[in-house]
Amino acid sequence: MHRTVRRSLAILFPVILAGLLIASLQFKPKPPKEWPVYGGGSEANRYSALNQINTKNVNKLEVAWTFHTGDNKPDSAEIQCSPIVVDGLLYATSPKLKVIALDAATGKLRWSYDPFKAKNATVHANRGVVYWREGNDRRILFTAGPYLHALNALTGQPITEFGENGQVDLRKELDQDVSGKYLIATTPGIVYKNLLILGSRVSEGPDAAPGHVRAFDIRTGKRAWIFHTIPQPGELGYDTWEPESYKEVGGANSWSGFSLDEKRGMLFVPTGSPAYDFYGGQRKGANLFGNCVLALNAETGKYIWHFQTVHHDLWDRDLPCQPVLMTVKHEGKKVDAVAQCTKSGMVFLLDRETGKPLFPVEERPVPTSDMPGEMAWPTQPYPVKPVPFARQLFTENEVTNISPETHAKVLKRYKEVRSEHMFTPPSKPGTVILPGFDGGAEWGGSAVDPQKGILYVNSNEMPWILTMIDISERFSKNLTEGNRLYNLNCSPCHGLDRMGDQHQYPSLVGVDTRLKKEEIHKILANGRGRMPSFAHITEKDRNQIVAFLLNENVGNASARKDPEAGPAKPKVPFSHTGYHRFLDPDGYPAIKPPWGTLNAIDMNKGDLLWQVTLGEFPELTKRGIPPTGTENYGGPILTKGGLLFIGATKDRKFRAFDQQTGKVLWETTLPAGGYATPCTYEVNGKQYVVIAAGGVKMNTRAGDAYVAFALPD
Ligand code: HEC
Repeated sequence: MHRTVRRSLAILFPVILAGLLIASLQFKPKPPKEWPVYGGGSEANRYSALNQINTKNVNKLEVAWTFHTGDNKPDSAEIQCSPIVVDGLLYATSPKLKVIALDAATGKLRWSYDPFKAKNATVHANRGVVYWREGNDRRILFTAGPYLHALNALTGQPITEFGENGQVDLRKELDQDVSGKYLIATTPGIVYKNLLILGSRVSEGPDAAPGHVRAFDIRTGKRAWIFHTIPQPGELGYDTWEPESYKEVGGANSWSGFSLDEKRGMLFVPTGSPAYDFYGGQRKGANLFGNCVLALNAETGKYIWHFQTVHHDLWDRDLPCQPVLMTVKHEGKKVDAVAQCTKSGMVFLLDRETGKPLFPVEERPVPTSDMPGEMAWPTQPYPVKPVPFARQLFTENEVTNISPETHAKVLKRYKEVRSEHMFTPPSKPGTVILPGFDGGAEWGGSAVDPQKGILYVNSNEMPWILTMIDISERFSKNLTEGNRLYNLNCSPCHGLDRMGDQHQYPSLVGVDTRLKKEEIHKILANGRGRMPSFAHITEKDRNQIVAFLLNENVGNASARKDPEAGPAKPKVPFSHTGYHRFLDPDGYPAIKPPWGTLNAIDMNKGDLLWQVTLGEFPELTKRGIPPTGTENYGGPILTKGGLLFIGATKDRKFRAFDQQTGKVLWETTLPAGGYATPCTYEVNGKQYVVIAAGGVKMNTRAGDAYVAFALPD
């Protein structure tokens, strides 16, 4: 007896040791030379302690290598990917959503994997991939279309024992049937122990899937937990909706990435608005957990606290970026906090453990809605500090003045629409949305200096006009079936008049002269750029829509027995005419500059330290107009070298700012717009800064490059 115990202990001892060793390997803080996680680390502070490149030598920065993915075709997505770097390999995605592994020092391709080889699937935005390691098992996790994939990080081969043959169908295991609905993920999830926690992107319309947050076991692909962002009967928050909402309403999805306090085991989840975005008559109530910062137990998915930044959202004011973990000095005490930037130009600073705001948040009365059946929430939260980093009201005084003619034309349109408040609800004459649908802050998020407690965020100042219409106008009885289906599916972006918005959404008038029938079908089946795939609607319906676009007179209303029946029957009585930027006749924003800014905010005191314009239109500068800033997509990173690196602007520039003063210390022109967040790392003693130059956004030229910069040898 005695001997057996001794022997088993002798056997167990090395096992325990090995276990401890593996555990310590796994939890060892990542060496600061890498960029192992989307956002730089689980705090999502986009900060690197590297300082080889610094304020003194940054002007010598030069291209170290460029990698062309070779797959930027007209039907590709722009590259929004911020690469990660682990063990000397840089992992990223291409415009066609291939995953690539490059030698981080040379940019040489090690392997690439095409998730769409076998299938004809939708190309969409992708912001990066996830690395996980246990012992010698190293995996890359990423999403393409509605699938989560696991690859061997060293070879790029699928891990066949993960899910079904290396992939998990995200439309399954959602506690609800979402077959036929749009559900993908564009921002990488986050790893906690052996779990990958993942959000989703869903439709913005009445047919949206719910945005529940899930964790998957990385070893097997099995769902480990789910948190219902639209609560079901008996769950907390259920009473902030109508009783049946949980079956009918979608959205409240987390599409912009998480952060994680590994020590506390706490996950921080930013959520988006409930869908349909712009009319909530069928979802009366505050609509928890839409538009919330949610704190969940990372291990179990159990609720800890929430903070709602918009009640009963009617403006698509999703939380657009990762909440950032930081420690601030608040009223003389060090406090662990979470900072959340918003599309409306606010920063909410919350106590990490309780979710209580550190600076007071006031519930202020806001306008009521005049849309029949709507009940806008009577108040909305305003943090008293920090001051907003973007203008929140487009007053008459703010109408563009870049020329007297422009001013007069814009003023005329301005007087036709409603612009009296940041929270003016959507309306039939049109409501100005400022900050716009793309912020304020967007998915690029913010960078934080962890020592100083300073937060850096780039921002758009672009007004948009949202115009509501009776759905009956779209579905009047004398429309052809193709026209009805077009109005239902396509008009929110391309407009009821098929004219698009002269900017982001192309006009489809005369599309028959540009595209062949098969080409339009291909776009509908696969999506393209910001246009989602319509593979989920029936082939018959797609044929009807294409026939309508090509002016072939088929399926007219008289052929329908019951014009109210069929797939085009709307769930919601109102719709909007599309996503329209409020532009002047030359295509510049209708508001006075600045149109894009970079901001430094002292989060200890809540004070704006500096604000500078970000980006420039050279043709306006030539006319003697000071740099205006441009719309910008993609975030900043900050380094211990005192530098803030950011691309994001329409002028294709990649810039390094002095973190102290906001002065540009270095800039270069990229082969295409750098609409992505850069990263930095060190290999073989050399610091590199890499950014994707994918272009496409905002009608700029397309690209397919990752460009790395370093100091000369
Ligand atoms: C969410 C917004 C959105 C919706 C909804 C949408 N589109 Fe698009 N569509 C776009 C965008 C953005 C583009 C430009 C894509 C690109 O090239 O990057 C586009 C491009 C197109 C093009 C190519 C136009 C050209 O001249 O190259 C066609 C055709 C088209 N859409 C048809 C449709 C049809 C038909 C529907 C409805 C079934 C539809 N779209 C729904 C956003 C949308």
